[in-house]
Amino acid sequence: MSGWEFFYKSKEINLRLWCIADLRRLFCDRASVMVGSNEQREMQRVAVITGANKGIGLEIARQLALHGVTVVLTARDEKRGAGAVESLRGSHQIPNVVFHQLDVRDESSVGALAEFVRTQFGKLDILVNNAGASGMPADVEGLKSLGIDPESWLSGKATNLVQGVLRQTYDGAVTCFDTNYYGCKRVTEALLPLLELSTSGARIVNVSSLRSELRVKASFLTPLAAQTDSALHGRGCHIREELSDIDNLTEEKIEGLLRRFLEDLKEGRLEANGWPMMLPSYSVSKTVVNAYTRVLARMHPSMLINCVHPGYVKTDINWNTGVITTEEGAKGPVMLALLPADGPTGCYFDQTTKAEF
Ligand SMILES: NC(=O)c1ccc[n+]([C@@H]2O[C@H](COP(=O)([O-])OP(=O)(O)OC[C@H]3O[C@@H](n4cnc5c(N)ncnc54)[C@H](OP(=O)(O)O)[C@@H]3O)[C@@H](O)[C@H]2O)c1
Repeated sequence: MSGWEFFYKSKEINLRLWCIADLRRLFCDRASVMVGSNEQREMQRVAVITGANKGIGLEIARQLALHGVTVVLTARDEKRGAGAVESLRGSHQIPNVVFHQLDVRDESSVGALAEFVRTQFGKLDILVNNAGASGMPADVEGLKSLGIDPESWLSGKATNLVQGVLRQTYDGAVTCFDTNYYGCKRVTEALLPLLELSTSGARIVNVSSLRSELRVKASFLTPLAAQTDSALHGRGCHIREELSDIDNLTEEKIEGLLRRFLEDLKEGRLEANGWPMMLPSYSVSKTVVNAYTRVLARMHPSMLINCVHPGYVKTDINWNTGVITTEEGAKGPVMLALLPADGPTGCYFDQTTKAEF
């Protein structure tokens, strides 16, 4: 067991004790954070979490705050975000959470958040890119009536079944890419200068999905038309190879792939050209989030930058088809946000376990 794995295991065992201890420390710390010296401000870890008004993001905020981190809970909607902060402060009695508006699709909103963090804290220690969109208008009642079991949902066996109730539109795909990939990149780029000033060692956690996994997509990225058209087969393999070639992976290549997807979607060529047909744009967006994580980790070796599938969590993004709680789902992202200095970087995790991309 490596140092960081031992760190996490013992941390999980002692979680309850830690929470009590952290809470006690928190209440004591609060006054010093507010009136504290520069040194104290430097010691206090600060985290930004995107899309944290509900679901897994809200739970990540709660768990990180219980670990003594000062959390900037962000949401695109002021009312929903402020309500979430109120619920943490009020019913959960967690004082070290502040709200700031953030729409990851809006450049000026991203700039305003960066300015807020700079003036309030002068640095950032943890960034959790959690905000996400499915990009699929859904017939929710129709989906429920299909009664798809989790195994079929996760393995992709339900792909044909869901075609009538989940529609991949062009606009949906644009929203999905602009939120899940470009949003993550926009926020990261704006906050990188502040993460570079972290005194405890910066951590970036990109919330991905099992839909991203290249090994799962091995079959998806082999077009059905391959048996009859070797040129198309070549293209499917090409996509997978391109993303697996970590040393030569670049943002330009990643974005080229997204443009190719949109072109194929417009021309009705998704299936023929080997794109995944289960939640097409969502799956591709998360695959490129993983690729971007690897590029970032290579560019910023002093930080620990990882991506994580939180598990199949019951939330709005999957129309509440998930099977685990947000409390369980937040564990992986929180573990990666709190990695000790010898922790991994440029890796993909399935919940709390390191996995293949
Ligand atoms: N649930 C699962 O089983 C599962 C599995 C794999 C990965 N994930 C990933 O986990 C992350 C959290 O999702 P969730 O399951 O907690 O779903 P969720 O409850 O639907 O939460 C999604 C969050 O993202 C926010 N968001 C969407 N677009 C945004 C934008 N432009 N700017 C800022 N925030 C935006 C939403 O805000 P609004 O309330 O304003 O819409 C909401 O707070 C996502 O990245 C998702 O892809 C979830």
